[in-house]
Amino acid sequence: MSTDEHARLMRANQANWDARTPVHLASRFYGLDEDLDPERWFAAFEWDDLGDLTGRDVLHLQCHLGTETIAFARRGARAVGLDFSAASMAAAAGIAAKAGADVDYVRANVYDAVEALDGRRFDVVYTGKGALCYLPDLPRWAEVVAQLLRPGGLLYIVEFHPLLNSLGPKPAPGEGPELLLRHDYLGGDGPVHRDATHTYTDGPAVAHATDSYEWTHGIGEVVDALTTAGLTVRRLRESDELPWQRWPQMVRTPSGWWRLPAPRVPLLYGLLAAR
Ligand SMILES: C[S@@+](CC[C@H](N)C(=O)[O-])C[C@H]1O[C@@H](n2cnc3c(N)ncnc32)[C@H](O)[C@@H]1O
Repeated sequence: MSTDEHARLMRANQANWDARTPVHLASRFYGLDEDLDPERWFAAFEWDDLGDLTGRDVLHLQCHLGTETIAFARRGARAVGLDFSAASMAAAAGIAAKAGADVDYVRANVYDAVEALDGRRFDVVYTGKGALCYLPDLPRWAEVVAQLLRPGGLLYIVEFHPLLNSLGPKPAPGEGPELLLRHDYLGGDGPVHRDATHTYTDGPAVAHATDSYEWTHGIGEVVDALTTAGLTVRRLRESDELPWQRWPQMVRTPSGWWRLPAPRVPLLYGLLAAR
């Protein structure tokens, strides 16, 4: 698939995310009417891996409403959030202002981030929880990330495990809660096209721009893209917990997140790499 075709599909995704934003803003899923609690989107291991962020320049790529970005600012970082959805960036700025958090938001495609950020470099680039699946070309993305980092700077990806994305419930309703391997674990077969009036949150239907495109990326593909771009992988964690209840049979964990009863399989991973 050509770069032009990738650009066309990403424009469709951009319109789709603009259309999803008002639904997400009003949703119980993001809970923005209640007290904002950005930390609830983070696993404890993330803060262990990220270390002290006081005074660090942290860039959050594909930050959506900035519900996670605010956590970096509250932990003392100079936080910047970047996303290509204008509606998301306007909403994120309002949420940060209401929370009294100092965050700069920049509207740009990740692939244009170096220019959009005017050559600014960061100590930490953070991304994930539903981000990489919207990127058609991981080697090109990894080169962008490498350019955004200072020497010694860290990339932290906390992303849904490709195994999670390849599981789906048994199709016949009423037959039981078994999950089956239903979707590709490995990428390479082009985008998955969705035309969905409902997004992953509660709330009303998405009013327009319902088409979106996602790409599957196995963990090997992610590691390969990063090392080819000159980054060193320092740590790879696999976790069986998710911040929300993906399927009804999931049970609460002591941390307040959710996991499948058995067998224990990875649903989320954290990958730390250094430039
Ligand atoms: C599921 S959110 C991930 C953010 C956060 N973890 C969350 O759950 O709110 C995905 C975000 O990626 C953004 N996005 C998708 N493709 C992008 C691209 N090529 N450049 C910049 N942002 C992109 C969308 O606008 C959306 O806000």
